Amino acid sequence: MSSTTFDLIVIGAGPGGYIASIRAAQLGLSVACIEKEDRLGGTCLRVGCIPSKALLESSELYHEAKDGFDRHGIAFTEVKADVAKMLARKDTIVKTLTGGIDGLFKKHKIQRFVGTGRFVARNKVAVVAADGSVTHELAGRNILVATGSVSAPLKGVALDGDRIGTSTEALSWPAVPQHLVVIGAGAIGLEMGSVWARLGAKVTVLEYADRVLAAMDQEVSALAKKLFEKQGLSFQLGVKVTGARTTANGATVDIEGKPSIDCDRVLLAVGRRPNVEGLNIEAIGLKLDERGRIPVDHHFRTPVLGVFAIGDVVRGAMLAHKAEEEGVACVEFIAKGHCHVNYDAIPNVVYTSPEIASVGKTEEELKAAGIPYRKGSFPFMANARARALGHTDGFVKILAHKDTDRVLGGHIVGPRAGDLIAEIAMAMEFGASSEDVARTCHAHPTLAEVVKEAALAVDGRPLNI
Ligand code: NAI
Repeated sequence: MSSTTFDLIVIGAGPGGYIASIRAAQLGLSVACIEKEDRLGGTCLRVGCIPSKALLESSELYHEAKDGFDRHGIAFTEVKADVAKMLARKDTIVKTLTGGIDGLFKKHKIQRFVGTGRFVARNKVAVVAADGSVTHELAGRNILVATGSVSAPLKGVALDGDRIGTSTEALSWPAVPQHLVVIGAGAIGLEMGSVWARLGAKVTVLEYADRVLAAMDQEVSALAKKLFEKQGLSFQLGVKVTGARTTANGATVDIEGKPSIDCDRVLLAVGRRPNVEGLNIEAIGLKLDERGRIPVDHHFRTPVLGVFAIGDVVRGAMLAHKAEEEGVACVEFIAKGHCHVNYDAIPNVVYTSPEIASVGKTEEELKAAGIPYRKGSFPFMANARARALGHTDGFVKILAHKDTDRVLGGHIVGPRAGDLIAEIAMAMEFGASSEDVARTCHAHPTLAEVVKEAALAVDGRPLNI
């Protein structure tokens, strides 16, 4: 067993941990990164964001070829979905990208350890192999916990790793389900529900709240629901799922006060919870907060000296890019003594078709906080590029302070919303006004002009409507 002292030990190599490791190495720290999986990249790269985007792209192209190409004057005699090939393509993308992080670790001389990180003392971590044996004991001047999250269970729902699964299983079902029941109309439920609906599954989404994407701006979630229904997804809102079990031919989902639903696959997507399994934080006197998260201050310091935490395992949105920002900020604090993350300008994207994206405050939040605002909206329908693409559903909405005109929020339903939201996030990061956005020259014809027009609409002067 080796014993080495590092400037920084990072536990977890997801987007938070691997990015933090690279930034720390750039800053001259000696870095060890402990990851229990064979592949680097965490949930996001292995069984989350990246494989789901690969399948979203394939299923979207299939759907376009079947129902959309005709409008362009392109005809086929037959369009077939080869699910096995789609899954293989997805796996290749994951393999390439996770392998890429191996390369980055080598380039930055980050020492990688395979195993579960377990605290032995506040500055000592054991690397535990799958068989329970300790392969290394590492000492660190600083230790960063970036262990992410796991799917939240739901009482009564018996996950069987096949018919009743989480997003991990839903990314690898070998054939298109006949009837898929999705529990939870959040990002995971809607993205994976879309994939399988496009490939031909009947999809029923059950949601406890009275709307889909409950945390998003209300106007956005109302339009999103309408568009998903047009695509064939059916919703039961305001319902509480009380159980799900496998049957001889499939599965049954029980709903409080309503008839049960028989189906052949169930996707449980009711959120995620912080992952601290195997960390042995009790050994260093670290206590979780009331929601099972590791408590941190604004410099990502836990109450235990020298121990930091970032990403899904701490407070805030469970998003890969939020974890990345925190990872960079945390190691900059360790190396330089200062750091800052602007939580007001963290975008949130749902990669359905059309995409849905938001940054900053929703109208409801501004109203609740008593902040006076003006709003400008512009539809993709009135944009030349959207017309040419044949994707005209949706709008951009910009919210700006009534007195100062400072941009406070942006909400988009529409083609490439996930890319377009970056402009509004940048405007917010720079403290821009809606007039700054409106006076910025946008290339014509582009989808980005919808952002400019929405900014003009804040002042009641959109040009193309
Ligand atoms: P979520 O928290 O976004 O949505 C879960 C939904 O399940 C909620 O609307 C909730 O009301 C509902 N629910 C809870 N209990 C229920 C019950 N008994 N019956 C019916 N509905 C119930 O969680 P989701 O979609 O699982 O995503 C987990 C995390 O991963 C989120 O933080 C999400 O932001 C993140 N994520 C982000 C993605 C993206 O940025 N594109 C993609 C996938 C996940």
